[in-house]
Amino acid sequence: MTESETPFIDIQGITKNFVHRGERLSVLEDLNFRIFPGDQIAIMGPSGAGKSTLLQLLGTLDVPTSGKMYFEGEDIFQRSSSGLARFRNEQIGFVFQFHHLLPEFTALENVMMPGLIGRMGRRQAASRAQELLEQVGLGERIHHQPGELSGGEQQRVAVARALFKKPRLLLADEPTGNLDLRTGAGIHAILRELNETTGVTVIVVTHDPRLAETMPIQVLVDQGRLIPRKQGDPQVEGRIPAELMDATPQNPGQMRPVGAVSDTEDNQNSSVAD
Ligand SMILES: Nc1ncnc2c1ncn2[C@@H]1O[C@H](COP(=O)(O)OP(=O)(O)O)[C@@H](O)[C@H]1O
Ligand SMILES: [Mg+2]
Repeated sequence: MTESETPFIDIQGITKNFVHRGERLSVLEDLNFRIFPGDQIAIMGPSGAGKSTLLQLLGTLDVPTSGKMYFEGEDIFQRSSSGLARFRNEQIGFVFQFHHLLPEFTALENVMMPGLIGRMGRRQAASRAQELLEQVGLGERIHHQPGELSGGEQQRVAVARALFKKPRLLLADEPTGNLDLRTGAGIHAILRELNETTGVTVIVVTHDPRLAETMPIQVLVDQGRLIPRKQGDPQVEGRIPAELMDATPQNPGQMRPVGAVSDTEDNQNSSVAD
């Protein structure tokens, strides 16, 4: 990344409040973040920190209370809701913790679905779906229904489906939340490989520091802002405001200190091991 490169996404001072039982709940507070084309980003943070809220905003599924988000220079929330829907449909793929596959359809049919809804020819859709299933290592499972696939395989089908329309941005909200570590690491490996082969920008929320470690850029939602997961991490430089580069988490919640932020031998050993 160079200074002169235009961000793919530029989030400027986004605040998101919810009103719950008459009380204002501030979830994101003056959040600034720049994402560059082809970034692979892991977002961490304790439960309730606002990770899903941030992903919803990035995916234009929700609008901020204030602040701006630019996609390649376009102030995206200036669009009408139908303009946003078109943008989302063309540019963004989503993967969630629960795969949301249609149980009565095969893997191939599930992956084809965005094409069929978009009135693509059946044969063309099937061929694109087959290619994607091969990319995620499921070439031998295309006629299996979700119930005939393992949890990791189901999630790989969901990844293939999310990529059907060649999105520029893939957003994954705890896609490995229901998987064991090894299977989760397999999903992360696929996300990285797809990023490298197709250039899709990947943003993945994870609870597991060992999975976060597999992504080059690691940030933390803390007190409504984004800070580096490891203080001063050069990978994060230029993406968040300089004054937050050395921030320490104020709200560690259920998070464990890991890697560079630990200050005792014990912590270092327990966190970096395996
Ligand atoms: N639609 C909503 N209405 C009211 N509060 C919400 C809504 N969505 C999320 N919240 C609250 O915002 C906070 C952040 O939620 P979320 O982004 O889902 O956290 P995370 O994904 O980090 O666990 C939580 O306290 C949650 O209860
Ligand atoms: Mg969440």
